[in-house]
Amino acid sequence: MQRKSALTRRRTAPPEIAAALVRWQKQHGRHGLPWQNTRDPYRIWLSEIMLQQTQVAAVIPYYERFLKRFPDLATLAAADEDDVLTLWSGLGYYSRARNLHRAARLVASEHAGIFPNDFDAVLALPGIGRSTAAAICVFAHGARHAILDGNVKRVFARCFGVAGYPGDAAVADELWGYADALVPHKNVEAYTQGLMDLGAGVCTRTKPRCDACPLTAQCVALKQNAVAQYPSPRPRKVLPQRRTRMLVMLHAGQVLLEKRPGSGIWGGLWSLPELAESDSIDAVCATRFGVTASAKKALPEVAHGFTHFHLDIEPLRIAVKKIDTRAAAPGVMWLSLADALGAALPAPVRRILAALD
Ligand code: ADE
Repeated sequence: MQRKSALTRRRTAPPEIAAALVRWQKQHGRHGLPWQNTRDPYRIWLSEIMLQQTQVAAVIPYYERFLKRFPDLATLAAADEDDVLTLWSGLGYYSRARNLHRAARLVASEHAGIFPNDFDAVLALPGIGRSTAAAICVFAHGARHAILDGNVKRVFARCFGVAGYPGDAAVADELWGYADALVPHKNVEAYTQGLMDLGAGVCTRTKPRCDACPLTAQCVALKQNAVAQYPSPRPRKVLPQRRTRMLVMLHAGQVLLEKRPGSGIWGGLWSLPELAESDSIDAVCATRFGVTASAKKALPEVAHGFTHFHLDIEPLRIAVKKIDTRAAAPGVMWLSLADALGAALPAPVRRILAALD
């Protein structure tokens, strides 16, 4: 098998790497993070979901607030989705919050409210991929599973000199081969935490601190004097460009927000109403929102990158003269700017509102 032979060829026995990481983690790793020193799968699961696309320092206050409000799985399962999204507001990637909530309800209905121990049952829950399931099983009950998140991909790409973009399936497969082969038979928690700590604080994307790394003896990239070349970046693709117009309707210090449909882009979030290209502003204001505009002004454009396309947003500031309350529609609300900024908003909408004077 190719992966195994790569380890053998380099005469790097997996136990040496794991032992070096465990020793290093015990001495230099993080030990006081709020989700450490517990075996409570709910707390561990929540932390792993919040940490999926967000750094530790940004997660900590959200994690603590979330646990105060939803201290256990049953409380989360019984909550309204809107309350969950509001607590997530500002953390971004809201599909994580929706999936977390769906998963809590599934655990309540299909696992008698007890978070599963079994790796495949954990993996089957919404929002939990292979690496997250592994991290949960490792930290919640010391099971032997391999993690491979973005930081760990970088560590292994460098350590084993794996060329190619880790988002490619073949490259990811090779990295998973290393990940699986390295998991030790004991101290799996310290080993896993060590990988995370190394990726976050030493083997960083820019300015790696190789002088502080426990794996320098094995590191292929370091031997090649090519640490910065690993991992290979995402191949540049020209993404389609889309445009949209958004209405920033303002009346007595309040702004109108509209709830997006539950699925699709920004599903379930509060957003600014969008105009189709052929829509007339006055007609949309009147028919959809019962609003008569007095003045309109184009605000600076905001660009937002999705994985599959770029979106340019043209915000239009509308001073509202009159509101016909009979036209109030469900899924629409007027909020003060401060309250609007506290709602679950798409990131570019938050930027548009934050820039209003
Ligand atoms: N990133 C992902 N999971 C983590 C954890 N448990 N601790 C620190 N950083 C992480």
